[in-house]
Amino acid sequence: MKQFISVHDVTDINALVKKALAYKANPLTDKNLGVNKRIGLLFLNPSLRTRLSTQVAAQNLGMEAIVFNVDKEGWALEFEEGAIMSGNKAEHIKDAAPVLGSYFDILCIRTFPSLKNREDDYSELYISQFIKYCGVPVISLESATLHPLQSLTDIITMTEHAPAHKPKVVLTWAPHVKTLPQCVANSFAQWVNAWDGKAEFVITHPEDYELSEQFTKGATITHNQDEALKDADFVYVKNWSTFNDYGKIYANDPKWMLTEEKLKLTNNAKVLHCLPVRRNVELSDEVLDSANSIVTQEAANRVWAAQAVISEILQRGE
Ligand code: CP
Repeated sequence: MKQFISVHDVTDINALVKKALAYKANPLTDKNLGVNKRIGLLFLNPSLRTRLSTQVAAQNLGMEAIVFNVDKEGWALEFEEGAIMSGNKAEHIKDAAPVLGSYFDILCIRTFPSLKNREDDYSELYISQFIKYCGVPVISLESATLHPLQSLTDIITMTEHAPAHKPKVVLTWAPHVKTLPQCVANSFAQWVNAWDGKAEFVITHPEDYELSEQFTKGATITHNQDEALKDADFVYVKNWSTFNDYGKIYANDPKWMLTEEKLKLTNNAKVLHCLPVRRNVELSDEVLDSANSIVTQEAANRVWAAQAVISEILQRGE
């Protein structure tokens, strides 16, 4: 694996899941793979799970992991080519990225979208510029449109709970108080659609919350949440802002929150959410605190997803 930006960087999803689960069973089996190598985790936005799970994963492989909160501790970065830097941006990515590349063997970066300009966000300008100029393999810790480490974790967690039959997987929109990116939903859709016909995939959301077809194509899409939830084996709950009239909150109907009542429509579904979650806004306490919720296991699996990906990149360089 040369980089990990989307599902397109993965040749065999199930093989990567198998590798992650092998690390879960034996975390230190490759503890010397990354000895004398360094990984940089660069955050332009906040994180709990991604930051710590990737650090733990790298350390399990013997790497030194260094975290740099670029947004708080670094110079403000300019990403536009040819920019006249007379504003508040102190350093161009063209200058910063190769320097960072000289310090690290692998670089990881988190860059959220602006949610102001769809064209800019969906061109993935920030992470693309970073890849272009840093000169070492890059792992996305969540970019403007995708969150691949989260999606790999979601597939790992569903694999652990796979029923004997082909599972029905439902991605449902949920209300929220803030304007959130489409990354997690886009990425989940992209991975489930690429998952080798392993699931019947349904996406449900209110009108006006359509996601980009480049990620959802292949899924059944409905505005009827109850119909979607019927007989579901897995329910993935997530809020996202509008894609078409970009970055807006339209209707924020609390009836879309996943409750115990709604869960009764499902095949005793396991419930996933990437976290952080707004309790009693996106998901009720009763659902989150029930045996159906596998969100903690899902978050714990972030370590094994990251470890499998870092390992693939290190092994390519051997
Ligand atoms: N799910 C996830 O990416 O969590 P953090 O934002 O805390 O890293």
